[in-house]
Amino acid sequence: MDQTAQLILDGKTYEFPIITGSEGERGIDISSLRQKTGHITLDPGYGNTGSCTSDITFMDGEKGILRYRGIPVEQLAKKSTFVETAYLLINGKLPSQRELTDTRIALNDYSLVHEDMQIFYQNFPRRAHPMGILSSMINALRSFYPELQKDDLDINKTFLRLLSRIRTLAAMSYRISNGFKVIYPRPDYSYCANFLNMMFDSPVKPYEIDEDIVDALNAFWILHGDHEQNCSTAAVRVVGSGRVNLYAAISAGIAALWGPLHGGANQAVLEMLIGIQESGSDIATVVKRAKDKNDSFRLMGFGHRVYKTYDPRAKIMKQLCDTVLSKLKVDDPLLKIAEQLEEVALTDQYFIDKNLYPNVDFYSGIVLRALGIPIDMYTVMFAIGRLPGWISQWKEGADDPNWKISRPRQIYTGNAVTDYMPIHKR
Ligand code: CMC
Repeated sequence: MDQTAQLILDGKTYEFPIITGSEGERGIDISSLRQKTGHITLDPGYGNTGSCTSDITFMDGEKGILRYRGIPVEQLAKKSTFVETAYLLINGKLPSQRELTDTRIALNDYSLVHEDMQIFYQNFPRRAHPMGILSSMINALRSFYPELQKDDLDINKTFLRLLSRIRTLAAMSYRISNGFKVIYPRPDYSYCANFLNMMFDSPVKPYEIDEDIVDALNAFWILHGDHEQNCSTAAVRVVGSGRVNLYAAISAGIAALWGPLHGGANQAVLEMLIGIQESGSDIATVVKRAKDKNDSFRLMGFGHRVYKTYDPRAKIMKQLCDTVLSKLKVDDPLLKIAEQLEEVALTDQYFIDKNLYPNVDFYSGIVLRALGIPIDMYTVMFAIGRLPGWISQWKEGADDPNWKISRPRQIYTGNAVTDYMPIHKR
């Protein structure tokens, strides 16, 4: 028998269906609540609210599980490539050899961007943050590629164009903002190798591709691939629900990701670690500050809305950190500070009681620093990795026959009806 939940309001009993997910997650379907009872639910921050059903990503925050289309992220980070994982997220299955080859060819074909886009970059102020620039440039893509406005265009081509071009645009932003010549993508390089080459190649010092570093970048981006209904993905879905074009929805996702409580945490962690190093603060004092209710300082890279145990991505990121640093023979003092912070925090009762563990951003900045990525590009690196997730979530929403425009309600707490007072009487 189908299960229901009962709600008693003013002595009257209402029944609502219980929805069960494929991993046994349960939720009460309250879509008829207002119609039946005249009430709404109130859930600031949506910690208890499911906005959709989804086939893409499964997370269990208590057990520290993350799977894309059922496949554990640990397996993907070890065995897959970013391009293959992007295909999996967007298409719901791993590609055949033929499908993977076609995807790679398309990513190469679409990798150049309109030359006029370089003029855009030159007109941003020098100190403009790359996340603001990337969000604008992705939105601008729609104007540069008007053929994308045709309804009959194969949407998969649009996805591949976006995946390919975000990487070119990100590298271009770094080159132009530093006054370096733009390096074009090469057909003989893989997705990740091309990105590294576009970032670091120089006419006077050719960049040498190191396959171990390419593998590390693949794993780094796979770890960021999708994370179900987080702040930026929810933004993509909400903005997309108005039937806006994909580029505008992704641009909104990039803007949401920028925040230091979300993707911007990777930059914030590095700034925190550098601050500790430069000030010579001892770790116990830093942890004490993070616990102080009267101090706005938080331990960046710690805590998560869903994970109440160690973030599975953080575990792999730490291993990646050790691999990259040892491969590049980098002895980064920030790693030692991070490890000490982790040790002190994980044995502190405040962090234990509140289930605060390192999240994906805690060690990611140290990996990126070793790769030579400048600090203000860290969140751009997160955005490139998250793009397949945003695309797949947008697509799932767009294909849903029951898709509705997102339009939350509120409980109004302002003035009761108030007459307008002319200015001379105020
Ligand atoms: N340092 C110190 N205290 C913390 C921290 C932290 N990093 N995170 C949470 N707390 C405390 C918080 O003060 C609150 O205490 P109390 O119950 O006494 O008021 C309690 O833990 C619960 O925190 P919350 O802010 O209500 O939890 P949330 O689920 O709303 O926020 C979070 C989650 C990630 C925004 C938060 O943990 C945080 O600000 N972390 C630091 C920023 C960060 O690393 N963000 C990256 C998240 S992972 C990347 C991504 O996918 O976005």
